Amino acid sequence: MLKHTHTCGELRKTDVDKEVVLNGWVSNWRDHGGLVFIDLRDRYGLTQIVFNPEQDRELHKASRELRAEFVLAVRGKVSARPEGAVNPKLDTGEVEVFASALDVLNKADTPPFEIEEAGSVSTDLRLKHRYLDLRRPEMQRNFQFRHKLAQIIRRHLDTQNFLEIETPFMTKSTPEGARDYLVPSRLSPGHFYALPQSPQLFKQILMMSGFDRYFQIVKCFRDEDLRAQRQPEFTQLDMEMSFVEETDVMGVIEGLFAEIFSTLMRKKIQTPFPRLAYGEAMRLYGTDAPDLRYDLTLREITDLARAFEFRTFRDVVERGGIIRGINAKGSGNFSRKQLDELTAFVGEFGAKGLAWFKVEEGGFSSPIAKFFNEEQQAAIKGRMDAAAGDILLFVADREKVVSQSLSQLRTRLARMLNLIEADKYAFTWITEFPLLEYDETSGRNVSIHHPFTSPRPEDVPHMEEKPLEVRARAYDVVLNGVELGGGSIRIHDHELQSRIFKLLNIDDATAQERFGFLLEALRYGAPPHGGIALGLDRVVAMLLGLDDIREVIAFPKTQKATCLLTGAPAGVDDEQLKELGLRRL
Ligand code: AMO
Ligand code: AMP
Repeated sequence: MLKHTHTCGELRKTDVDKEVVLNGWVSNWRDHGGLVFIDLRDRYGLTQIVFNPEQDRELHKASRELRAEFVLAVRGKVSARPEGAVNPKLDTGEVEVFASALDVLNKADTPPFEIEEAGSVSTDLRLKHRYLDLRRPEMQRNFQFRHKLAQIIRRHLDTQNFLEIETPFMTKSTPEGARDYLVPSRLSPGHFYALPQSPQLFKQILMMSGFDRYFQIVKCFRDEDLRAQRQPEFTQLDMEMSFVEETDVMGVIEGLFAEIFSTLMRKKIQTPFPRLAYGEAMRLYGTDAPDLRYDLTLREITDLARAFEFRTFRDVVERGGIIRGINAKGSGNFSRKQLDELTAFVGEFGAKGLAWFKVEEGGFSSPIAKFFNEEQQAAIKGRMDAAAGDILLFVADREKVVSQSLSQLRTRLARMLNLIEADKYAFTWITEFPLLEYDETSGRNVSIHHPFTSPRPEDVPHMEEKPLEVRARAYDVVLNGVELGGGSIRIHDHELQSRIFKLLNIDDATAQERFGFLLEALRYGAPPHGGIALGLDRVVAMLLGLDDIREVIAFPKTQKATCLLTGAPAGVDDEQLKELGLRRL
């Protein structure tokens, strides 16, 4: 085999006249009246190869048999491209290689899509032939970036004294709010390992073992209904530290992001990140992952509504609902069609309507303006900081619906009105989460973060009386409206941990059965500790400006958690099932 002397991204004008060998795939094939041109592709770039019939008739003939994705070794001489043929978009665009020898290392069937066009074919087709999709320069760039990011993380955390320690995949359930993936045990029939939803319990145990700073770049497994930004197996940068408080963990993450941004993005970011209490975030943005690159905050007019003649508003408030709205400044020129579209849009998130008022010099203009007298209009205007030329958009409903629909509307308006500055990164910490929330499906209180999160000490005494008022020592890190990670200070006292299990309706026997090892470890000198995990796939996608984490996962799964490449999950032999005790002998 002819072995390459250079990569396909390497040759420059300074290499002219050199004899070189390149290895790669045929990306493009053109017959230009005699001369045959191919672009040869590898991980590093593209180089144009020329086959000239006047130089070697046989070789030229052979080159006409080449097709897309054939694998080649080509020997030839580097030559400067004639003026006018220079391609400034290509690193190697000033040169071409005149072939003197060709070795077809492998042929290829006609690919189901052109590699360079793969960006526009269906995701399913791309996933089925992932090996072809991954040949695309964009995909190669994504994984190169991901690799670099992982190296920076490891290097940075090493300098901060963190140890990378692996934790098991075949383990007991580690609850993070999703279902477990189970693995049957052959040697203990009827028993199952659970794949970890996170290394949460092991990293806490590592703190109890004296490894005061741990990290791991690690797969987590969650059987949950998949939405955008979620995969059944995904990667976390998982961390834990001993003898720390919230600020210490936050400081490490801020330092890490500062390093990532300066090295990979050549950008200085402001630290520490601003902090926003959960309640404030919900009130001002309707979400605990707000995009702070633009304003468009939510304002409340519930208290004004009692005096309103407009029944819809009054009824909602009388039933305990709320009314909040957004002032889209300067957008008084929205058309009826646009307003109908926005109404349909909030409808997707449960809103029964979208009330709007165009603010004009003489008063509000709207089909419902007549229900609001001058004084009421002035009060609304004041509350919304409105001026002539603005448009006010309101949703009246249960708080949950109002928050969901307005937070989505906020994002939509920001895009419509071009309020999002390119290249802006707005980090924020969300703090002061409640510890528990009421889960309507199961009819009980559940942890918002996980059951090992410490309550605030001042809330502990009245925990049993007012469980839903207890605040957690938890924090999320949010970037441009995406939750990148979350963590907390943990419970390091076994009695407090037992009380929390009780609050969650987990009785002693169950707690013992599921988490006995943790409760026991807590009795033998557990240091105060806390940590965090970042969704690494989300971080990579975010930094590359991509919306879909599948673009940065080599072999991702579909929304139905299937792998189109391998066909997993798949049936198995009866024999195997019998061995595992899953089918009667
Ligand atoms: P949490 O469950 O918040 O915390 O997860 C941390 C981060 O992991 C990412 N993430 C996901 N990414 C892709 N697909 C998924 N299905 C998925 N689920 C979560 C998110 C999220 O912010 N053990 C705790 C951390 C701790 O307390 O230290 C935990 O796992 O970016
Ligand atoms: P209706 O009284 O249903 O004819 O609606 C009059 C206007 O109020 C329309 O613009 C609706 O979109 C709006 N509207 C209706 N219900 C709500 C609601 N729950 N919240 C906000 N606006 C609403």
